[in-house]
Amino acid sequence: MIQLTDLRYVRLGTRNPQAAAEYARKILGLEFVRREGNAIYLRGDDRDHTLVYFSGDPADHASGWEVADGRALEAAGAELESHQIQVDRGTRAECEQRHVEDFISFTDPSGNRHDLSARPHHGGRQFFPSRDCGVWSFSHIGLRTTAATRDETFWTTVMNARVSDRIGAAPLLRIDEVHHRIALFPSQHPGVQHVNHQVHGVDDVMRSYYFLREQGVKIVFGPGRHPTSGAVFLYFEGPDGMVYEYSTGVRLIKPEEEPSYRPRQFPFAPESFCMWGSRPDIPEFRASSLAPP
Ligand SMILES: [Fe+2]
Repeated sequence: MIQLTDLRYVRLGTRNPQAAAEYARKILGLEFVRREGNAIYLRGDDRDHTLVYFSGDPADHASGWEVADGRALEAAGAELESHQIQVDRGTRAECEQRHVEDFISFTDPSGNRHDLSARPHHGGRQFFPSRDCGVWSFSHIGLRTTAATRDETFWTTVMNARVSDRIGAAPLLRIDEVHHRIALFPSQHPGVQHVNHQVHGVDDVMRSYYFLREQGVKIVFGPGRHPTSGAVFLYFEGPDGMVYEYSTGVRLIKPEEEPSYRPRQFPFAPESFCMWGSRPDIPEFRASSLAPP
């Protein structure tokens, strides 16, 4: 079984990296790291980078995960190949581009692209958000699945993710103490569905709510509280229709709770996404968009 140790970054294609990076800096509040070729690197915490916009197809997304070390990476490659999944070894130039010492990449059963890296780079300087947004960490992604049950099996039997809760067929999966680092939402096509950053507290969520409204940013869900993770959240629209989320107060499942932890089943209903009554304007969170699992 592959042991994922962290979610490191997302790479998102866009026709206009400059405009996307402007949004990430001025609206989302991330820190600009560097421009390299046709890509712009940003970060939401102390790591080298956590978000990359590259010049390309807006449907071209990749998520970057970390494994413990080079040996774990070798074992992960062999494990994926044993499941008939094609593994591509990152070239030296590609490693430099991703700011990791080594990586492999593969495509999951829905067609989502993933990098598995060993020794991804940390940033030497302290993280300094571009505005007073309270962001302190890039934390999780929502990922589209074209067959939720199949992909849940992939993530739990090959990638060692554990189901924390389910909303309908959509599993919220953890790889460490955090309630979820990845959530799989049924869709007709693959892709990153939302990108989450943690903020310090409810005041940050609400301050951003008013800020985003003033800036004319479309709020698509919240403010609200997830009954699953207990997090207070706000979802809003970014470049190329990508959904970004701020949240705070996510439940942790401690190692001593692991042996007795049982995932809860929530129905696919608005109340399962928000216990305060906010209604999502996000296709994957609305029952009518549910693809058969
Ligand atoms: Fe989320």
